Amino acid sequence: MTRGLFLSFEGIDGAGKSSHIALVAQLFRDTGRAVVITREPGGTPLSEKLRELVLHEPMDPLTEALLMFAARREHLVQVIEPSLARGDVVLCDRFTDATFAYQGGGRGFDWQVLGQLERMVQALPDGSLRQPDLTVWFDLDPHIAAQRLASARVPDKFESQPADFFAAVRAAYARRQAEMPSRFARIDAAQSMPAVGADVSRVVSDWLQGVAA
Ligand code: TYD
Repeated sequence: MTRGLFLSFEGIDGAGKSSHIALVAQLFRDTGRAVVITREPGGTPLSEKLRELVLHEPMDPLTEALLMFAARREHLVQVIEPSLARGDVVLCDRFTDATFAYQGGGRGFDWQVLGQLERMVQALPDGSLRQPDLTVWFDLDPHIAAQRLASARVPDKFESQPADFFAAVRAAYARRQAEMPSRFARIDAAQSMPAVGADVSRVVSDWLQGVAA
């Protein structure tokens, strides 16, 4: 049976990742694969309720981190693991790297404690840890991201944070990449939308050849 594949898409708000997920989905469908597109926080009815709370209610940093992981646990059990077991391709708009970036980097929450929660929530029956097979990181200067967001929409709790919050989020993504370089692909999201799209397609296609080989 074909092995399931798990890809996550990350970056600060305004980096433009969401527009490119459909492109990657098409790339996989063209090879005959079934694709599940999902997101975090969210992806199940309960996790979407938690998303509403966590994106709009002010709360203590530990509460925020725990709710992110609670939503993730439900999402893994209900959607991600069954899809991977079927051999599907799961494309997830944000995953645990976002918790390290936003709650760890942005909020300054303890990195080691996040690691403990990660190990608890993402443990597989064989003792290994569920992680994305590939993480596409849309990296962008927070000032450019802020300009893009200013013209876009009503900001949620995170989007309304100041530029230094996003500088810390970006630095935390870089730290995650340094800790787990083999699964990360960094995209220069300052480029034009078509150029970013071309980079994403190339990165995913090259990676897929490596997986198939
Ligand atoms: P986002 O994925 O950007 O969705 P949309 O494009 O609909 O706004 O929004 C999710 C927000 O949640 C984003 O600001 C990052 C934040 N977030 C965390 O703080 N921690 C997490 O673990 C995750 C998954 C997201």
